[in-house]
Amino acid sequence: MTRRLYLYPVWIRIWHVINAILFLILIFTGVSMQFAGSGGEFSLIRFDQAVAWHNVSAIILTFNYVVFIIGNVATTNSRHYRIKKENFWADLFAQLKFYAFGMFKKEKHPFPVTYEQKFNPLQKISYVLAMYVGMPVLIITGFGLLFPEILVQQFFGVSGLLITDILHITMGFILSVFMLIHIYTCTLGDKPATLFKSMISGYHEEHE
Ligand code: HEM
Repeated sequence: MTRRLYLYPVWIRIWHVINAILFLILIFTGVSMQFAGSGGEFSLIRFDQAVAWHNVSAIILTFNYVVFIIGNVATTNSRHYRIKKENFWADLFAQLKFYAFGMFKKEKHPFPVTYEQKFNPLQKISYVLAMYVGMPVLIITGFGLLFPEILVQQFFGVSGLLITDILHITMGFILSVFMLIHIYTCTLGDKPATLFKSMISGYHEEHE
């Protein structure tokens, strides 16, 4: 028997596809700028084009992020992002144990998907950190670099621009690594394509 749960409303799917495409453009153009060198000899695309694409994508990403926040405030999707203190570490450990050993022994998922529980504990904490810590830091530092005149000149003797730049690049790197792990863990559903299909159809499907 197949169990179908409608867990990914249209707005989340539209937000997510725009977010994923913009992220790929931002990573490509960001890496291109980072390795451009003074003469632009290592760039993947022309430096000025990379800057233009990066800035425009970042502005759209920011608007899209606002959609994510408003969507979560206005709908019940936010319930999946609430972290409870009780059993936090035990649940996280149980999920890690499943990814490290259980799934290779064909054990059952320790946190089956329900209407109340769309994410397992590891998904939940990584999505909360990415969306409510990583993204704000990335966006705020990005705007600092776009409008450097708003930055503090010196912070304890170190250039404010340098600190903002390092924070932005580090967070960009961390979120890129998050995305790779995220795509990998999305293959660990019932079948490798199950979760990707859910993000297209809106329905989580499970064969019982
Ligand atoms: C090509 C890139 C990406 C692919 C293929 C992908 C794939 C998926 C899939 C299949 C899901 C549904 C499974 C689940 O709920 O865990 C999902 C959900 C999610 N993804 Fe991604 N993702 C990508 C990029 C990103 C990026 C860059 C971010 C954030 C920086 C992100 C954040 C999220 C969040 C927060 C959810 C849960 C949304 C919700 O239902 O409330 N994803 N992703």
